[in-house]
Parts: sequence; structure tokens; C-alpha cells
Amino acid sequence: MCAAVYVLSTVTGYVLTSALLLKCPTLLHRKKRENFLSQHISHRGGDAVNLGTDMLELDCQLTKDEQVVVSHDSNLKRATGVNTQVCDMAYSELPPYLCKLGVTFQRECFCEGGEDKRIPLLRDVFEAFPNTPVNIDIKVNNDTLIKKVSELVVKYDREHLTVWGNASNEIVKKCYKENPRIPVLFSFPRVLQLLGLFYTGLLPFVPLKEQFLEIPMPSIITKLKDPNRLTKSQRFITWLADNLLMRKSLFEHLTARGIQVYIWVLNDDEDFQRAFDLGATGVMTDFPTRLKDFMDRNGISKLQ
Ligand SMILES: *[C@@H]1O[C@H](CO)[C@@H](O)[C@H](O)[C@H]1NC(C)=O
Ligand SMILES: *[C@@H]1O[C@H](CO)[C@@H](O)[C@H](O)[C@H]1NC(C)=O
Repeated sequence: MCAAVYVLSTVTGYVLTSALLLKCPTLLHRKKRENFLSQHISHRGGDAVNLGTDMLELDCQLTKDEQVVVSHDSNLKRATGVNTQVCDMAYSELPPYLCKLGVTFQRECFCEGGEDKRIPLLRDVFEAFPNTPVNIDIKVNNDTLIKKVSELVVKYDREHLTVWGNASNEIVKKCYKENPRIPVLFSFPRVLQLLGLFYTGLLPFVPLKEQFLEIPMPSIITKLKDPNRLTKSQRFITWLADNLLMRKSLFEHLTARGIQVYIWVLNDDEDFQRAFDLGATGVMTDFPTRLKDFMDRNGISKLQ
């Protein structure tokens, strides 16, 4: 009897404490300092800066002569028509971009390029947009790449304007080790851990090194593929992932701890609305103008 009461009160205490700290995490954790708050994140594209985007998202690779370039693909066939790896060529040898480039998550959408078809260096982006926060995906597990990116970030005095990472936890750990002053993303294994902690009620007690959670909205899969072509089990998994991941109480807890939540890659009003309703900090989009219009129409402004 006594033991039962003890267990019951302990469990109740745990549940209550967890619930309290879920709502008020700063009772236990110092809120992370946020140097910038991005609501409008452009999935590629410098024009978006003129539009007032809060953040650029880009991918980095290393050339043979150890220059950091901005390129999504490690093989350049799709973007340039030349079948070669970025890491096999010196920067000066890299082929220019094709005129017509498929760029979005949705089918059949092309970007007719501008004048300059050169594959940019990370340095060029830093010089062109000295005050725009940049989200850097480290595309290759290469220590030199990580070191060089850190050096550039430091050189251009952008530690406070940068977040970096990869889905691989190994890469994120290396990034954090290389320069812990640059905020990191949750890697994929860490997202799973985060969910485990959240659903067991442990999350409020656990310190987190990451400062950015960037996750897809699983339900958009039905928009990318022809929904009829998804099998029943694929549809179920999508539904389940969506329900597990898109949790307002999770997002609110994280943002109260100073961890920003970005959801990608959303391209229509319905999904923009859902993300902001769920308490996401920001939305990553292929269509900066569309998101800007949506935010203007709905009075979503910098002040939260
Ligand atoms: C990293 O990239 C450089 C340049 O492409 C290359 O020389 C080096 O071998 C790579 N290191 C690893 C560990 O892959
Ligand atoms: C993460 O790194 C792997 C290589 O280790 C790469 O294939 C992948 O595209 C990267 N993902 C992101 C989101 O940068």
C-alpha cells in the first residue's frame, strides 16, 4: 500500500513537473540567445533578399582545390549538363549552370536563370548579402569542408548570422566541435531522439545543444507525388509522421527555450497557414513572393 502511494505520488510529481516545464522551460533552462528570427526562409535564390526574406538556405561542397562552393548536387550533370563531381574539379574548371534549371520541390517548374551562370563561392554569397542570415547544409562529410566553412563564417564575422548542419549526426557533431559558436541544426537521429523525449515527458528536463529544428511537413508528400500513386502503407506512414511531428505543444516548448522551428518546403497558403498556426517560427519556401504575399495579407510580421 505504502509503496503504491509512493509510486503514485512520484509518478504524479513527474507528470506535473514535466507538464509545468513543458509550458515554462525557462524555469530550468536558460533561454538560448536568438540573434535573428526568421519567418520567411527562401530555399535558394538571391532575388528573395530584395523581397525581404529573413534567411537564405544553401548547400555547400568543396572543390578539388578546396574552395567552398554553393551547390545542391555533388554531381553537376543536372545543373550544368556536364557529368562530373564538384570535388573532382578545381573551382576554375567548374562548368557554368544551364540556362533552364528545374529548381523546385514541385514537378515541372523551372527557373530561367540570370546573366551570371557561374557556380558561386560561399564567399560570394557572404559578400553579396552581408546581413542576411544563412542556413548552410554541409553536403559532404569532409573535415576540410567543415573547417573552411567555419573559417569563412568567422572571417566574414557571421557566427551570429549562420546556422549549419546536416541530417547526419556525425556531420553535426563535427560542426559543433569545429566551432560551437555557430548554431547547429537537429540532425535526423536527434529529431527522433527529440520526439522520444517529448512523448515520454523527459524533454523538459534535458538540455539541448541545437538551436534550430528544421523539419518537413510530412503531409506535403501527397502534393509532391500523385496521391493516387501512394500505397496504403505509404499514406499511413505519412499520416503517422505528420501527427507525431506537427505538434503545437512541442513547437511552443522549443521556441520558449529559444530554439527556432522551421518547416519545409511549403509552397501554398494552406500549408503556410498551418505552419504558423502550429507555432512554427518560420517557413521555408521555393516561392518567396507567394510567402511574402501570404504574410502581408495575414499580418504576420517580425514582431511575435
Ligand atoms: C575533402 O575534400 C578534399 C578536396 O576535395 C579532398 O582532397 C579530401 O580528400 C577530402 N577529404 C576526405 C576525408 O574525404
Ligand atoms: C548530408 O550529408 C550527406 C553526405 O554525408 C549528403 O548526401 C546529404 O545530401 C546531406 N544532407 C543535407 C540536408 O545537407
